[in-house]
Amino acid sequence: MALLKLSLVIFMFCCYKAQDEEIMTPVVNIYTELQQLKVSFIGLKSDLNEAKHELQQQKSLIQDLKKQIKENPQIAFTASMSASESTSRGPFTSETKLIFDKVLTNIGEAYDPITGVFTAPVRGVYYFRFTGSAFSSHDLGLSIFKGQKRFVSSYEYNSSDKNDQMSNGAVIELDPGEEVHVRLWVRSWVFVDRRYNYSTFTGFLVHLLPEPVY
Ligand SMILES: *[C@@H]1O[C@H](CO)[C@@H](O)[C@H](O)[C@H]1NC(C)=O
Ligand SMILES: *[C@@H]1O[C@H](CO)[C@@H](O)[C@H](O)[C@H]1NC(C)=O
Repeated sequence: MALLKLSLVIFMFCCYKAQDEEIMTPVVNIYTELQQLKVSFIGLKSDLNEAKHELQQQKSLIQDLKKQIKENPQIAFTASMSASESTSRGPFTSETKLIFDKVLTNIGEAYDPITGVFTAPVRGVYYFRFTGSAFSSHDLGLSIFKGQKRFVSSYEYNSSDKNDQMSNGAVIELDPGEEVHVRLWVRSWVFVDRRYNYSTFTGFLVHLLPEPVY
């Protein structure tokens, strides 16, 4: 047993010796190998730098886009009122908020067609406008409200004309969260058509305002 072990050790030693000599022989030139490794290392390094640079470019592009979205939000809507047949809203015994439930455009989703209220998402200057189609031989009064404050109005008296349109618009400064809606005056009628979208509420952001300095 001991003899077997010894011969194994000798055998391994011989092998190791042989390999060692092979490395030392000029067939494998360590210097050249190192040179080649160095060259490929330099190549890898420059590839890595290039990739890093590209990543940086992508990152700053994403940042630019984010900034653009923040600084240039897109807010615009137009809504009409839906009806299964030609009908009217009103008359009501008190001034009533009109709900323009038929959305034609709602970029930015700042207008809520369920409540009829526009809520400013950013501080800025906005433009709003309504058009009301009057019901023949009925009064029609409409106003734009900023919060609980009447801003602009329009009134169409009871006349025998079949189709009367009335309109008004306003530029309004809004802080984030401030609301705008349209109200129908007391004892007045607004015509709601099935197809033509005669009566509408429209609004859009004109430009942003800088944050106030307190
Ligand atoms: C509109 O005016 C006509 C003529 O004065 C009158 O007969 C009618 O009752 C009025 N309509 C309403 C809804 O007040
Ligand atoms: C009214 O609005 C609807 C969209 O809800 C549209 O399909 C239709 O063409 C509009 N009608 C008219 C006459 O503008």
